[in-house]
Amino acid sequence: MRVGFVYDLRDDYLREGYSAEDVVEFDTGDTLDHIDGALTRLGHSVERIGRGQQLARRLVEGMRWDLVLSIAEGLHGRSREAQVPALLEMFGQPYLFSDPLTMALTLDKAMAKRVIHTAGIPTAPWCVVNSLDDIAQINLPFPLFVKPLWEGTGKGCDLQSLVRDKKELPGVVAAKLERFRQPVLVETFLSGREFTVALIGNTPDIHPLGIMEIFLNDQADAEIYTMTNKELSESRVTYQLAQDTVGDRIVQLGREAFMALGCRDVARIDFRCDAAGNPYFLEANPLPGLHQTHSDLPIIAGLVGVAYDDMLGMILEAGRKRL
Ligand SMILES: Nc1ncnc2c1ncn2[C@@H]1O[C@H](COP(=O)(O)OP(=O)(O)OP(=O)(O)O)[C@@H](O)[C@H]1O
Ligand SMILES: [Mg+2]
Repeated sequence: MRVGFVYDLRDDYLREGYSAEDVVEFDTGDTLDHIDGALTRLGHSVERIGRGQQLARRLVEGMRWDLVLSIAEGLHGRSREAQVPALLEMFGQPYLFSDPLTMALTLDKAMAKRVIHTAGIPTAPWCVVNSLDDIAQINLPFPLFVKPLWEGTGKGCDLQSLVRDKKELPGVVAAKLERFRQPVLVETFLSGREFTVALIGNTPDIHPLGIMEIFLNDQADAEIYTMTNKELSESRVTYQLAQDTVGDRIVQLGREAFMALGCRDVARIDFRCDAAGNPYFLEANPLPGLHQTHSDLPIIAGLVGVAYDDMLGMILEAGRKRL
């Protein structure tokens, strides 16, 4: 197949003056090489298109590919991950991964939680805070967790996110509103085990690639899989396949969440347990990181003995079957 490859390359944006934090969700040259290399070894010819705007130009010129694979996260707003899929749909260009609705729905964590809650899947009680005035209406028991409403890669999930009592809350909320220029999600802090489940396929044929438990080492930020823990995961985090009944339950909930959110081809879905060991949906990633050794999805593949190339091949095959 002729595969068009769309991405936001970190270095391009850094050169244009964006900050390291602005581009933390974007991909490094390594990741592009891993994907490009795997697709080539699988027998496809890959054309690197670049970011969304470059894709737009090519589509207008009349270029088409057998399939477009986009890992572009987009720059602005809560629909940014939906922008490339929307463009592709507009031009009738077949593409891998979820459609614009699912991409936007899952990036806004409260929107996703509303759908998940309605589907009967447990998710921690929450509220959305748009301004400091909203804090007076919060009626949730402490400790609470505070994070920006539509970020990923652990952005804004730091040690300050864990708020243990009422008097700390306004300061933390104010700092996150100011820093991320978007509403914040305030939800019950889940203090138990943390898992992420990788699912490949399409409804009703969804195959769990694996479920992994996340253990934070002594030198890690405590209790939270923070952005820094993710970035320094080689020394701070131990990953293990889950092989108990909680894991089985989360695979089941993950499949239900995948279907409720309308995911396609692949998704990685995060869960965390409360102190009593009951699992709750945290958030879904229909555009999971694909760095070969650093991103959770390829790490899960490695733990279950699926090579990186084969993992990409499975995702591609799911997309091909769907199309
Ligand atoms: N309600 C919560 N209770 C306890 N810990 C939480 C809660 N929400 C988030 N966390 C912690 O913060 C981490 C990051 O949160 P979340 O998965 O929502 O962010 P993200 O930036 O979208 O993640 P990703 O890197 O998977 O895109 C979680 O992995 C978990 O450790
Ligand atoms: Mg997450």
